[in-house]
Amino acid sequence: MKNIINKTNINDTSNIDRDASTWATFRKLWPYILEHKFILCLSIILLIVSAFADTSLIALLRPLLDLGFSMNDREFLLMAPIYIFCLVLLRGVANYGYSVFLSLISGKIVMKIRQKLFGHFVDSPVSYFDQNSTGRLLSRITYDTEQVAASSSDALITIIRESAFICGLFYTMFYNSWQLSLSLIIITPLVVALITFISVKFRKLAKTMQNSMGDVTMSVEQMLKGHREIIVFDAQEEESKNFEKVSNKFRRDGMRLVSISALSTPIVQLVISFAIAFVLLTASNPDLDITPGEFTVVFSSLVALMQPIKNLTSVNAGFQKGMAACQTLFAILEQPIEKDKGCLDIDRVDGNVVFENVSFGYETRQDLALKNISFAVSAGKTVALVGRSGSGKTTIASLIARFYDVSQGKILIDGLNIQDLTLYSLRNQIGLVSQNVHLFNDTIANNIAYGRIGEFSQQQIEDAARKANAYNFIMQFDKGFDTLVGESGALLSGGQRQRIAIARALLRDNPILILDEATSALDTESEHTIQKALDKLQKGRTSIVIAHRLSTIEKADEILVINDGQIIEKGTHSELLHANGIYTKLYQSNFKE
Ligand SMILES: Nc1ncnc2c1ncn2[C@@H]1O[C@H](COP(=O)(O)OP(=O)(O)O)[C@@H](O)[C@H]1O
Ligand SMILES: [Mg+2]
Repeated sequence: MKNIINKTNINDTSNIDRDASTWATFRKLWPYILEHKFILCLSIILLIVSAFADTSLIALLRPLLDLGFSMNDREFLLMAPIYIFCLVLLRGVANYGYSVFLSLISGKIVMKIRQKLFGHFVDSPVSYFDQNSTGRLLSRITYDTEQVAASSSDALITIIRESAFICGLFYTMFYNSWQLSLSLIIITPLVVALITFISVKFRKLAKTMQNSMGDVTMSVEQMLKGHREIIVFDAQEEESKNFEKVSNKFRRDGMRLVSISALSTPIVQLVISFAIAFVLLTASNPDLDITPGEFTVVFSSLVALMQPIKNLTSVNAGFQKGMAACQTLFAILEQPIEKDKGCLDIDRVDGNVVFENVSFGYETRQDLALKNISFAVSAGKTVALVGRSGSGKTTIASLIARFYDVSQGKILIDGLNIQDLTLYSLRNQIGLVSQNVHLFNDTIANNIAYGRIGEFSQQQIEDAARKANAYNFIMQFDKGFDTLVGESGALLSGGQRQRIAIARALLRDNPILILDEATSALDTESEHTIQKALDKLQKGRTSIVIAHRLSTIEKADEILVINDGQIIEKGTHSELLHANGIYTKLYQSNFKE
């Protein structure tokens, strides 16, 4: 019992919460709507005009019947089609107007929220995308925004138009005959309530009767299963009597059900006829002097009232759905964007990179991905990171570009803590070529100059492509540098994409270079071409090279062996081989592959 009480309590509060948050969300949406207040007012006026036209069409029944048909007023009968035509025209124009204006407003609001979300996603930290799937974020921008607009404009249309229509209908009813209207308005809810009550009662009765069918089945089942016991204990007579009782009860219950349901229809009809009699009695009262036209208008208005009342009662559910979608969108916009607290703007660094006791853990994980990492690379030198997959190499590279912020320790570039630099000037120092090169659906030239389109001449772009050994394959396309690469560069092979990325890095001429398994997805042939391009790229730059094939890093100035987020060995290739440790084992197994 206690449990049940608790449960209902929880449901109640969540309902209240939902209502409260619906309004809180709507208040946040309000400024977006208010920007279009002029068109909004116009739409509201048109909604009211449309409801007015609907009401007038019903009100027109009275003169049509009383003047036109009863008194044979020729003039009115001639004018009536014109009235009707004008009203239908007015209604059509108003409906067209408010539909167009409301879509105009909702379209603009959707666009604005979409643009804000897009901007917010762009400025969000990398960790945000670790925790949210692309598909979900995509549907936020496409589907949820649409939901918000559709449900709010539906709600607006229903609330304004149906309320105006209801007011109009009431006015028409009372204007024509307040006595008749009043009697109808009192009696209709009574009849509806009575019929509902009767049908609910009957349904309940029918339900309890199903139980006696259960008794019959159970009795037969017991006899069949316990047949041996019945004859052994000599209980044949007892069981038969019991079954007689049960089956007789079932028969009687069935009879009652039939008689009750046979009764329900005449009762309902009786109630309705009483109601009609009451209304007719009111209508035929000579003191009231109700004409056929008035009677028809009042009755038609009453029937017409049902639909808008029904619509109004269901408007809340749709509106809440839209506001729930809206709430998720605003929640996204309230998420913090990437922190950019640094205020040092540097021009071009020499490229001395130092890690001092850096530890780091991903937000989504308990354990540390990096523990106490320290190393230094001087300007123009190359450091190579090797280790098993999952040891933390990519994480080290990500920290340099501040895709994530260190948990402990610091990273210095030319003696400056990277936390103190603006993100823009920090990332401007870094060129990144990774295993999965992402190309944008644009021309090859624009992909090479990506982010700085228009800053570089065609000559510079072509030079970069030449150095990256990409020039030849680009020129094999009919349109050369103006070839569209297709979605995510589908037109190009892995090695070709890699060379575009290298050209990108060459063009930007960043002093620090990160190569994260840049050659791992390639066959030996293209690896050779790309290695040559990479050698050119590394010249004069500080390079952090993560390599899958150890043969490509033998020339590195220092090799760090990473295991489980820690540096376990460091030195040059020959030093490490001499030490005969983990590196040697890795090296040997690498050649067996
Ligand atoms: N975005 C992430 N969120 C949570 N954990 C991650 C994320 N990226 C990598 N990791 C985890 O951190 C560890 C190091 O990964 P990573 O630096 O990618 O290794 P490597 O590049 O050496 O293969 C792994 O255990 C990996 O599962
Ligand atoms: Mg990696």
